[in-house]
Amino acid sequence: MFFAGFGKHLPSLELHNDDFSYLLPTSDEWIRTRTGIRSRRVAAPDEGILEGCVIAAQGALRASGMKPGTLDAIVVATTTAPFAMPSLACLVAGKLGVPPIPAFDLTAACSGFLYGLYVIRGMVTGGLKNVLLLGADYFSWILDYADRSTCVLFGDGVGAAVVSQARPHAKPHFEVVDVCVKSEGEHGGLLYCKHAYPNLSDDLSKDAFVHMNGQELFRLAVTRLSEAAQDMLNAHGLEPDDVRLVVPHQANLRILEAVASKIGIPMESFWTNLERYGNTSAASIPIAMTELQEQGGLEGQAAWVLSLACGSGLTWGAALLRS
Ligand code: ACO
Repeated sequence: MFFAGFGKHLPSLELHNDDFSYLLPTSDEWIRTRTGIRSRRVAAPDEGILEGCVIAAQGALRASGMKPGTLDAIVVATTTAPFAMPSLACLVAGKLGVPPIPAFDLTAACSGFLYGLYVIRGMVTGGLKNVLLLGADYFSWILDYADRSTCVLFGDGVGAAVVSQARPHAKPHFEVVDVCVKSEGEHGGLLYCKHAYPNLSDDLSKDAFVHMNGQELFRLAVTRLSEAAQDMLNAHGLEPDDVRLVVPHQANLRILEAVASKIGIPMESFWTNLERYGNTSAASIPIAMTELQEQGGLEGQAAWVLSLACGSGLTWGAALLRS
């Protein structure tokens, strides 16, 4: 199974750290030193997530040299679909104008893109040739902008990938050698956001925002991401030195530095863009892969690439790619 091409969409509005300090007791210095984030994109009221998905999908199709009609399925990893029904994937299918094919959403928060890849591996093994996988999250819809401990961390964005059964003609492309995902439900309370169902009697006005225990999540994320990386390397007889690039979920620079030191892969090998986009949840890995593709991939060299993600659930995972 191969990544044939990637695409992305970031909304136009750019929020810098200093923009928050006018509203909240926070500062650029605090946010930058605790997280590595300098700015993030936020969707304006007229910028819908569906339109973002279509732009990212069209980018991924263009990069793959494919037309929408060649797709056999569409999967959208999202925690911020605009409707309980229909799924965002069905809306994307309608906009792209594909023939009747399977289309569905899945939810695994910041690990959503790797969960999508895990599911698609089964679909491709079952005979599907080309599947569109999107990671799409506009967390600005569910953030409490009076809560300084969460609102500064996240940004909006969409990333897309065409996953193909056969080796693609388009360059650069990546073989997906393996993907592994896991969860530990007992940690669900560390990061949650309730659906605002109209007939529930509780007052959901506050619970419908993101709630987070940042310190405990930080600790667990470092542990689980490091374990996932180590397990993936062990399963394939690889050493940390064999990994040319790590493309991680972009949550916090300090989490990545701790993981890098634990697994013995230097920080210079970690692809980061969180300073510009913040944490875009399920979109962060395909956005990073799009930027890697835009820079020509790994200059045609055969190299091992490791992708890592961790998020609410707790969910986490790793994928091993070969360029
Ligand atoms: N500006 C200024 N002060 C703040 C801010 C802010 N934006 N946010 C919190 N603080 C305050 C806290 O209220 C606290 O004040 P107090 O001591 O008076 O109570 C103080 O800063 C220290 O808070 P800590 O929680 O100890 O700060 P910490 O160094 O742990 O950093 C952070 C907080 C950045 C949230 C960190 O815990 C973190 O990144 N955790 C991981 C969270 C994450 O990445 N979530 C995303 C989803 S999960 C994933 O993707 C892996």
